[in-house]
Amino acid sequence: MFQIRPFDAPLGAEVIDIDLGKPLAAADYERMINAFHDHSLLVFRDQDITPEQHIAFSKRLGELQVHIQSTYHLPGYPEIYSISNVVDENGKPIGLADAGKVWHTDLSYVTQPSRCSLLHALEVPHDDSGKPLGDTLFASTIRAYEALPDATKRRLVGLKAMHSYMHIFDKITAMKRVGAANLVPLTEEQKKKVPDVMHPVVITHPYTRKKILFVNEGITVSIAGLPQAEGAALLQELVDHAHKPEFVYRHSWRAGDLLMWDNFSTQHLAMHDYALPRRRRMRRTTVQGSTPVYDPLPT
Ligand code: SIN
Repeated sequence: MFQIRPFDAPLGAEVIDIDLGKPLAAADYERMINAFHDHSLLVFRDQDITPEQHIAFSKRLGELQVHIQSTYHLPGYPEIYSISNVVDENGKPIGLADAGKVWHTDLSYVTQPSRCSLLHALEVPHDDSGKPLGDTLFASTIRAYEALPDATKRRLVGLKAMHSYMHIFDKITAMKRVGAANLVPLTEEQKKKVPDVMHPVVITHPYTRKKILFVNEGITVSIAGLPQAEGAALLQELVDHAHKPEFVYRHSWRAGDLLMWDNFSTQHLAMHDYALPRRRRMRRTTVQGSTPVYDPLPT
């Protein structure tokens, strides 16, 4: 029987004594999912799982998404996205080194963004004193919404924002001078698969019914229906607000960690404070969610 230990933080809990390599009984799965919705992020330590087991566990949550950056699919497993600064014996990157360099919500640029992501750490970099590097920060979009002034909450009702893959691509490419960078330009065919999409600025969580501030620095381009300058100022105010320190949990990785986070109720940022020969090697799946909607009824 596994234990759930909530963090002393705005979000997150550790699940203790669980082996994700083994199928979970229906009642255990339900207890885990309830904890996931309560805490937005679950940490499973010491998971020694294969790609097949990672996929099998992820699939219990829904249909898996295949990332548009096909260069970094784990060979033989298109549902697994490799995130790594490591290169093979021919100098070829084995994964995307640039992942998460700006605050974002995974795949908010598609009509049905990721319900959740499951990131498994195989190798974690450390500094000379043994302190882990390459932490990931997660901000609660529920807390962020709740902390908005009432006048701002009223102003946001009915507003929609545009989300774009090319926006985060361009932002990360512009940061190339900072550390490793290996995003691969999309072909015209791939670009057609990720057209810009509109989502409400405030959405209702599909399971908990809580209200969520659903804009992020990396992928949200603009707010529609407002004069350009007013929309740009509002978007900047919201994306800056969304990751204030009081909404943030910072995860220090250990090899074997598997983190599962809710992409509706969190957004995240990866710290790029390491470089080869310090190696970071992770594998990620993303589970398709529903189309974000705003439901005006109170939670
Ligand atoms: C991501 O943005 O999904 C990757 C986060 C990380 O590498 O820590």
